[in-house]
Amino acid sequence: MERKALYAGSFDPVTNGHLNIIERAAGIFDSLTVVIAVNANKKYLFSIDERLEIMRKATEHLPNVKVDTFSGLLADYVNEHGFDIYVRGLRATTDFENELQMAQMNARLFSRGTETLFLMTDPQYSFISSSLIKEVASFGGSVDGLVPEYVVSRIRSKFQED
Ligand code: COA
Repeated sequence: MERKALYAGSFDPVTNGHLNIIERAAGIFDSLTVVIAVNANKKYLFSIDERLEIMRKATEHLPNVKVDTFSGLLADYVNEHGFDIYVRGLRATTDFENELQMAQMNARLFSRGTETLFLMTDPQYSFISSSLIKEVASFGGSVDGLVPEYVVSRIRSKFQED
């Protein structure tokens, strides 16, 4: 039986921590859809088209990975597409409480018994978050090795635009 997994986030921008989770999940499941959230109330550095293009490039070496976008309730997207597994990455105990709450809420909303499954982040990426990357880069600090090489230049040119 084919196992369809989903990984979701804002990916503003995608980091090497996210990619580590994506590569590992793609190795476990038959197919993995990476879905990029569009939240009208959130201010993003990269537009949805830019995040989509960056994620497609970041995952082009993974043949069983698809990239999509969604807005609204994640559970609606999950139910509509019939995913078996919803993958989340856990970086530290501080992530746990919020993740537990979301997993338990989603369990009520998932209509086909979709399971939330946690992968522990590789320790070398456990301190990374997209906000921290943007903050460091906005002051001209180096984010080399924390995001894919071409994302480094994309972030740099964003802050040069301002
Ligand atoms: N490596 C590096 N960073 C990671 C990471 C990893 N493995 N895992 C998470 N992060 C970072 C993200 O970059 C993000 O950083 P930021 O806040 O600085 O941008 C932060 O940790 C939180 O990540 P995440 O929990 O994935 O949040 P998100 O905003 O990227 O995406 C959604 C959250 C979109 C999946 C979630 O809010 C959602 O489902 N929204 C839809 C509405 C909904 O259904 N709500 C009810 C939920 S029960």
